[in-house]
Amino acid sequence: MVPKISTLGGYIFEYQKSITNPTGFWTNIAESFYWRKKWDTVLDWNFTEPSIQWFINGKLNITENIFERYLFHRGDQPAIIWEPNDPNEEFVTLTYHQLFERVKKFSNVLLSHGVKKGDRVAIYMPMIPELPIAMLACARIGAIHSVVFGGFSAQSLSERIQDAGATLLVTADGGYRGSKTIPIKEIADEAMDHCSCVKTAIVARRTGEQVNMVAGRDLWWHDLEEAASPVHKAEEMDSEDPLFILYTSGSTGKAKGLVHTTAGYMVYTAYTFRNVFQYSDGDIYFCSADIGWVTGHSYLLYGPLLTGATTLMFEGIPTWPNAGRYWEIVDKHKVNQFYTAPTAIRSLMALGNEWLDGKHLGSLKVLGTVGEPINEEAWHWYHDHVGKNRCPIVDTWWQTETGGIMISPLAGIIPTKPSFATLPMMGVHPVILDANGKELHGNSVEGNLCINYPWPGMARTIWGDHKRFRDTYFSTYPGHYFTGDGAKRDEDGYYRILGRVDDVINVSGHRLGTAEIENAINGHPLVHESAVVGFPHPIKGQGIYAYVVCTEFSTGGEEGIRTSVLKTVSKFIGPFARPDKVQIVTGLPKTRSGKIMRRILRKIAENQVDNFGDTTTLLNPEIIDELLEGAKRLNGN
Ligand code: WTA
Repeated sequence: MVPKISTLGGYIFEYQKSITNPTGFWTNIAESFYWRKKWDTVLDWNFTEPSIQWFINGKLNITENIFERYLFHRGDQPAIIWEPNDPNEEFVTLTYHQLFERVKKFSNVLLSHGVKKGDRVAIYMPMIPELPIAMLACARIGAIHSVVFGGFSAQSLSERIQDAGATLLVTADGGYRGSKTIPIKEIADEAMDHCSCVKTAIVARRTGEQVNMVAGRDLWWHDLEEAASPVHKAEEMDSEDPLFILYTSGSTGKAKGLVHTTAGYMVYTAYTFRNVFQYSDGDIYFCSADIGWVTGHSYLLYGPLLTGATTLMFEGIPTWPNAGRYWEIVDKHKVNQFYTAPTAIRSLMALGNEWLDGKHLGSLKVLGTVGEPINEEAWHWYHDHVGKNRCPIVDTWWQTETGGIMISPLAGIIPTKPSFATLPMMGVHPVILDANGKELHGNSVEGNLCINYPWPGMARTIWGDHKRFRDTYFSTYPGHYFTGDGAKRDEDGYYRILGRVDDVINVSGHRLGTAEIENAINGHPLVHESAVVGFPHPIKGQGIYAYVVCTEFSTGGEEGIRTSVLKTVSKFIGPFARPDKVQIVTGLPKTRSGKIMRRILRKIAENQVDNFGDTTTLLNPEIIDELLEGAKRLNGN
């Protein structure tokens, strides 16, 4: 088991050690895992190419560190508790032993369908136990999983399948989310129509509804699992063999497939999980994220299972059948650590405290947040009403690229401050730079957040495009990993994340590139051009504001265009990326060189009517009045 820090003095001491002697520090942590063969060199790196390798020439399998390592003493302990969407349906518990049996069987299923080490397997599933089973089976045979969030459209799924060159897709008939049934297989079918690389689709049954099974391609999970052998020896993997690809949005159009490798990711997620949440044996840990995002990968699945924890996965949504659903789950399963997104907290807060009435919540010890800045009001509500003033809140800052938590309190150890992610994790060396790349030393500074030393959990590349990896993260400030976030270091040396400084917006904790949404909108036949910006939204954190240039309308006029623009975005990306506001305009403010002046668009979206700064370089300054007028109508003021 990885060591756990238990005092503030311990944190300060270990942190110093991890910065002055990072390789010594991580060697010590890595020693607690099971290796088929230990590494020759701990770390080799440069941030120029960039090339990052940890635990070089080590041989291992991450699933042996989940199963074989724990089986003797944890076989009968619950590994996963699955809570269904509908509270009237029975929950399912999979012990370490049961989960292991199912993972081994599914490993054999994948092998018998021709999946080999290094092949990519796409996974498009609702939150059912077969999703983590499929991921762990991939890891066990050395296939690289690429999980695509079940809310993405057929188009997005197909792009991701093709980019990764996946040969097999694991999916389901459908999924339940609140009162809705999602036609997962139908969406997967449409995606597969556009990608020839997928030879086999394995379909888990969840909703039981009629689906189209293509002969020679589609197979039912349960038939295959039933017939499979439960005997399987894990494939030997190199430390730097890829474990998974996970797509995320950036400031340019196409999603990026971040690649995480085996050993570093394993060491980092397990270490951070145990220390941030102060997980103790026997605790029940509940992360409400969907496994389709990085939080689900690192802190619903890998981090907890590598710690021998009991991890609870929930199929549904926080507001169905009512806004007390999370609290009911906490009481029902005696949850000790609860990890969610600020957007969920804000939406539950807005629905009133009565949903907490009658809920005990006495089992809770630690509360966590992730994915976006948490405002003070939501922080206090969470602390007072959910945590009953007893539970420390860990506001964890990190990214798909970082693999694991980078800046966060260790629960109960590092004193918290509302809306501050506080202090860096072991081995993490954050720096704040100004726009010219000059490091701002000392406290009470604000600027762009970079990290200037590698940590084991960091992504190694972008699948198929290493140059893009370099250009995106390592070229803005040579020698540093640039996070894309702004941050402040206050008078106590605490970090507060201020949000993205690039063209990425964070909507309900979902990361979206404005260019990606613009591309989708531009796919509408009557749209000439569009510009998307974020604006402050009381529940979602940021809302999506789209300015759409459109000069001819079909039937339905402006309103008709608005509706069909939303449909287009759903089709190209998914319903969660639909703009909150669509303003139809005749043009966009552009400089003489043809660049859109987004600063003005952001101000108007934020409901500001003046102080647009220097507009002398605008080619068409008269457009501002039109935009203001239209925004006024749209906002009803
Ligand atoms: C934002 C999610 C403020 C940030 C794990 C980052 C946060 C982006 C926090 C990554 C936090 C994440 N406080 N902002 N505690 N955590 N973010 O890749 O802008 O989906 O760059 O990873 O979310 O989003 P991603």
